[in-house]
Amino acid sequence: MSLTLTDLSRDPWLLAEVDDLISANMPEFMSWESPGNWRWHGMYDRYPAHQLCLLDGNGRLVAAANGLPVAWDGAASSLPSGSDEVLVEAVDHGPPDRPDAVCMLSVSVDPAHRAAGHAERLLTESLRRAAQHAPRGVIIPVRPTRKPHYPLIPMEEYAAWRLPDGRSFDPWLRTHLRLGARRLGIAERSLVIRQPVARWEEYLGHPLPGPGDYPLLGALVPLRVAEDGYGTYAEPNVWVHHPATADHAP
Ligand SMILES: CC(C)(COP(=O)(O)OP(=O)(O)OC[C@H]1O[C@@H](n2cnc3c(N)ncnc32)[C@H](O)[C@@H]1OP(=O)(O)O)[C@@H](O)C(=O)NCCC(=O)NCCS
Repeated sequence: MSLTLTDLSRDPWLLAEVDDLISANMPEFMSWESPGNWRWHGMYDRYPAHQLCLLDGNGRLVAAANGLPVAWDGAASSLPSGSDEVLVEAVDHGPPDRPDAVCMLSVSVDPAHRAAGHAERLLTESLRRAAQHAPRGVIIPVRPTRKPHYPLIPMEEYAAWRLPDGRSFDPWLRTHLRLGARRLGIAERSLVIRQPVARWEEYLGHPLPGPGDYPLLGALVPLRVAEDGYGTYAEPNVWVHHPATADHAP
């Protein structure tokens, strides 16, 4: 199927479809109030050309990738703490005078169109564009797609799991590594959602009677309920770096 590539600076009317695609691909709590989520639309407003969209022949959105320009000196130790910090910095204070890299915060492919290379196309396009103005390429706090099946395994351990043939166990991490990315480290608290226990109880449909760790469908780690009556979901991601290379030059 031949798809058309566009972005929100050229086709701003796609905004609602991008939102719908992302929410349909994520557990509901992932879009609750959080430092990053409060600024999600600020990212669209400030950086519309970084919101990439793939459309089918009928103009329907099939895949989207959301990013923004960041300052980064290339060292793993100076990466932001995760997607919340990237959004706070870029939306409240950005753009950087001279962006070093593009940070890709989300890639979503319509479930009916998975495993067809669309995610790869968006990543490659983002790298091609970065080559024009962001010399260090693209960094991504990756949300490994199979991690929800293994919420009790620490992310560091999970990200190091391999298939018998030596490739990465996680399909989405595998795609990044196959395209030439390298792993830089773990963003332990990339996105943090802290809400009163009552809200989590309503969402889950059962009581959370005391402090402790609770399973949460679709989450990468358990929900942690504290003595203060709040439950916190702190999502770990895996930082990867796709260096800009001559292959990506326009
Ligand atoms: C992550 C995501 C964008 C990847 O899109 P995709 O089209 O599946 O990407 P790829 O074609 O590169 O596939 C990646 C791997 O997953 C496998 N895969 C994809 N869909 C699959 C499915 N439905 N069943 C089994 N395997 C599948 C592919 O075969 C590939 O494995 P391989 O490396 O062995 O070939 C997509 O799964 C998605 O939108 N997920 C929900 C949102 C999300 O979690 N985004 C990532 C965080 S930003």
